[in-house]
Amino acid sequence: MRVVSFGLGLLVLFATACTPGAAVEAPADEPELVLGQLIYTNNCASCHRPDGRGGRGVQLNEGKVIENFANPADQLALIANGRGQMPAYSARLTAEQLDAVVRYTREVLNTAAAGE
Ligand code: HEC
Repeated sequence: MRVVSFGLGLLVLFATACTPGAAVEAPADEPELVLGQLIYTNNCASCHRPDGRGGRGVQLNEGKVIENFANPADQLALIANGRGQMPAYSARLTAEQLDAVVRYTREVLNTAAAGE
């Protein structure tokens, strides 16, 4: 029994250590931002990392997304149409989901410091 729980403990430790940055929580009283977080976690975090610091995808947090897209509509167009290695999401996400993920990256992820 002891060996089994030791093994489980190790597994939990290992899983925690391998999480590449925690998801940045949207405020619970903002349903559109909560939806944006869900979309981001399921579609974007694999490349841009949960905290937006970048990896296979470019960095989105620490002001980058606002710096590079003064106008949110331009950011939405990039996500919808894709660019280079960045996939196009116009056929995968609804207009509502695109709006939500743009808001989430600008209003929640953007202000989160990398690697926290
Ligand atoms: C397969 C990996 C991958 C996935 C999945 C992905 N991206 Fe990207 N993304 C990239 C890469 C690579 C770039 C850089 C594109 C280029 O300019 O060559 C990028 C660029 C961007 C940019 C522009 C950043 C800038 O400052 O120019 C935004 C915004 C963005 N992605 C948002 C998202 C969102 C939102 C999602 C999920 C809906 C997502 N990405 C999913 C790889 C990915």
